[in-house]
Amino acid sequence: MPLLIKNGEILTADSRYRADIYIEDETITRIGKNLEAPPGTEVVDAGGQYVFPGFIDPHVHAYLPFMGTFSKDTHATASQAALVGGTTTYIEMCCPSRAEDALEGYALWKSKAEGHSACDYSFHMSVAKFDDQTAPALREIVLDGTTSFKVFLAYKNFLGIDDEELFRTLTLAKELGVIVTAHCENAELVSRLQQRLLAEGKNGPEWHEPSRPEAVEAEGTYHFATFLAATGARGYVVHLSCEPALRAALEAKSRGVRIHIESVIPHLILDKAYAERPGFEGAKYVMSPPLREKRNLQALWDALAHGFIDTVGTDHAPFDFQGQKEMGRGDFTKIPNGMPAIEDRVNLLYTYGVSRGHLDIHRFVDAASTRAAMLFGLFPRKGTIAVGSDADLVVYDPGYRGTLSAKTQVMNVDYSAFEGMEIDGKPSTVTVRGKIAVRDGRFVGDSGRGRFLRREPTHS
Ligand code: URP
Ligand code: ZN
Ligand code: ZN
Repeated sequence: MPLLIKNGEILTADSRYRADIYIEDETITRIGKNLEAPPGTEVVDAGGQYVFPGFIDPHVHAYLPFMGTFSKDTHATASQAALVGGTTTYIEMCCPSRAEDALEGYALWKSKAEGHSACDYSFHMSVAKFDDQTAPALREIVLDGTTSFKVFLAYKNFLGIDDEELFRTLTLAKELGVIVTAHCENAELVSRLQQRLLAEGKNGPEWHEPSRPEAVEAEGTYHFATFLAATGARGYVVHLSCEPALRAALEAKSRGVRIHIESVIPHLILDKAYAERPGFEGAKYVMSPPLREKRNLQALWDALAHGFIDTVGTDHAPFDFQGQKEMGRGDFTKIPNGMPAIEDRVNLLYTYGVSRGHLDIHRFVDAASTRAAMLFGLFPRKGTIAVGSDADLVVYDPGYRGTLSAKTQVMNVDYSAFEGMEIDGKPSTVTVRGKIAVRDGRFVGDSGRGRFLRREPTHS
């Protein structure tokens, strides 16, 4: 059935105007004033609301075997939560461990999403080792349309790679026109500092941050940038959390290194005091890189406002407090790292950015949608509102006022990292390729309708 979205204020990364949007099948076919629709067209009145392009989360772990357990969501629950929060596309980290075969891992990760996700998805392919089988496997994966890799400089002996492997991965990525995303923390330093703190009897969640201090992330970022410079590959630092790492990335960029920066919503909203909450409550806020001292939040918001930080993702990696985070009672190094956020990213960025006057509304759309589409080969199919683009749209009610809570969230996890926080807006209607997936703020879509997005390499 065709769909007409009427009377909304269209907001993209570079334009703002009032118009109606007409959708046939899965695509936007007309944009204009007072559009007429044939009988049988479903009409959504967006009067008094914004219409944004579907938001894109470039960093998600819906399926993640990690630290002796599994992240709590499935693609079914994560995608429904994403949609309720305005995210219509996400990029899942495909993370087989060093012990697993890359092609088998890739097939496994695809099978977890296919037929289960309600929104569209793609993958960053993690390279956890580089041996004689790796290059042929990665070539095959790129041919399948997964045109970004992921490397972990952290998580020694599990997901992390050494310098030789990093060099070979980046060299291949340059040849194939693939962008490489990187978790930048020095694995050896983290491991040594963890051992030292534990030996001193410092074993609570509040010691997670001191075990991976800002300098360790800055070193990882500088290290990655140095390898990018040497290989000429294009890179993307994921979940950058602090000012020293930001300086390392921007200094490299000023030297011509092809490096882009992602921050994630927990690092913009929460500081390290959350991880210091008494009674093991702090475990809810353990992620890597860790939540930082408050002064870093201002540096991140400033860099985001100026476009130095390209994108805002979530690093959605949910673990229940009960039974999962609790695995690390008495030893913070055993607390599964990660936080749930896929449902809340857009509303938090809008509220504490746009609504509270810290972020221009076009930069908000750019950081939460358009820039990721451009960097990862999805633009203009995704990330904008234009004739010919996929009809992924978010009708957003800026008049909504509410608070976030585990009691009302869709994410399948037993706590909210943002419990009690106010939000100043919320999606009312969300479409995925022309079909309504969220109506009146509730998921009404089809689980399993989400499509794997094949992307092309970029040789520039
Ligand atoms: O703490 C985190 N970030 N957990 C998920 C895995 C990762 O490093 O992205
Ligand atoms: Zn990471
Ligand atoms: Zn991650």
